[in-house]
Amino acid sequence: MDDRTIDWVEGHILTIDQTALPDVVPLRLETVDDVVDAIRRLAVRGAPLIGAAGALGVALAARRSAGTGYQPEAVRADAERIASARPTAVNLRWAVNRVLPHVAAGPDAVLRAALEIVEEDARANEALSRRGAALLRDLVGDMPMALHTHCNAGALATVAWGTALGVVRALHEDGLVRLVLADETRPLLQGARITAVELARLGVNHRVVVDGAAAGLIARGEVDAVVVGADRVAANCDVANKVGTYPLALAAARAGVPFVVAAPESTIDRDTPDGRSIEIEQRDGAEVLELGGRRTAPEDTAALNPAFDVTPADLVTAIVTESRVIWPRKGERA
Ligand code: MRU
Repeated sequence: MDDRTIDWVEGHILTIDQTALPDVVPLRLETVDDVVDAIRRLAVRGAPLIGAAGALGVALAARRSAGTGYQPEAVRADAERIASARPTAVNLRWAVNRVLPHVAAGPDAVLRAALEIVEEDARANEALSRRGAALLRDLVGDMPMALHTHCNAGALATVAWGTALGVVRALHEDGLVRLVLADETRPLLQGARITAVELARLGVNHRVVVDGAAAGLIARGEVDAVVVGADRVAANCDVANKVGTYPLALAAARAGVPFVVAAPESTIDRDTPDGRSIEIEQRDGAEVLELGGRRTAPEDTAALNPAFDVTPADLVTAIVTESRVIWPRKGERA
């Protein structure tokens, strides 16, 4: 894959199947069912990326409808199916809502609006990455730093650049990254399978650690800051991100190291007042109870598998977007 994770190519969506990483397997999405399925099974994942895929998915719906006598109502129904494929990352519904007003004007208008979102995401992520790098230099000092991250908030979770890993990339360009500790991120291993691939590609010194090691490493002073992405930032600055983020914030607060969230404005949802109002996706227990298709727990044991957790605003040092830095502990709102 070159520097774009997703694109519109000859009337369909071209991306990669992220369930296959670290192997790179191209994925072609031709129907709304393909898009919904890819988002649900995390073949296409990461908040900004599912937003871009969702918008392009509506363009697919419009194009297919045009082939059989254009029906805006059918396209709107498909759009709703796409928007509700996953509930937590607000980027998905945000992106679908942005293309919806163009449905009446026909497939070309929908595609133009979707491609605008794709371009904007790439631009926003580069801008927030540079702003985030400057912020970390201020918070940590102008020296090569050790950073801790969780899940995958890199180029592969977005159209390009990434958010938290975009910040790492911008710092690395200035020779300011000594080490990145990447949580493996149970149960689907986005850290080990995806973040490690991206860090290796960037030439960043990194180690994958088990999620359970993170707090102890932070307490021992092994990292200078934690930097993560977000799936939704509520109006009061509570942050939903991949399950296992909240313990990092607790450990960072206790150790006195900055906990920085890097996310585009499209991840901020002012209609969600606080973290309690964020719907947390519950996923299949098999993701927890099996490893490589083999059962690891007794047959009659069930799992609880929330895909995200919420970090309360008072544990967040700063939220950096393409246009601003928000300081939740100073009482600032998103
Ligand atoms: O379930 P996933 O892999 O879609 O979860 C992704 C995350 O939690 C990311 O940290 C978040 O979407 C930010 S991506 C820039």
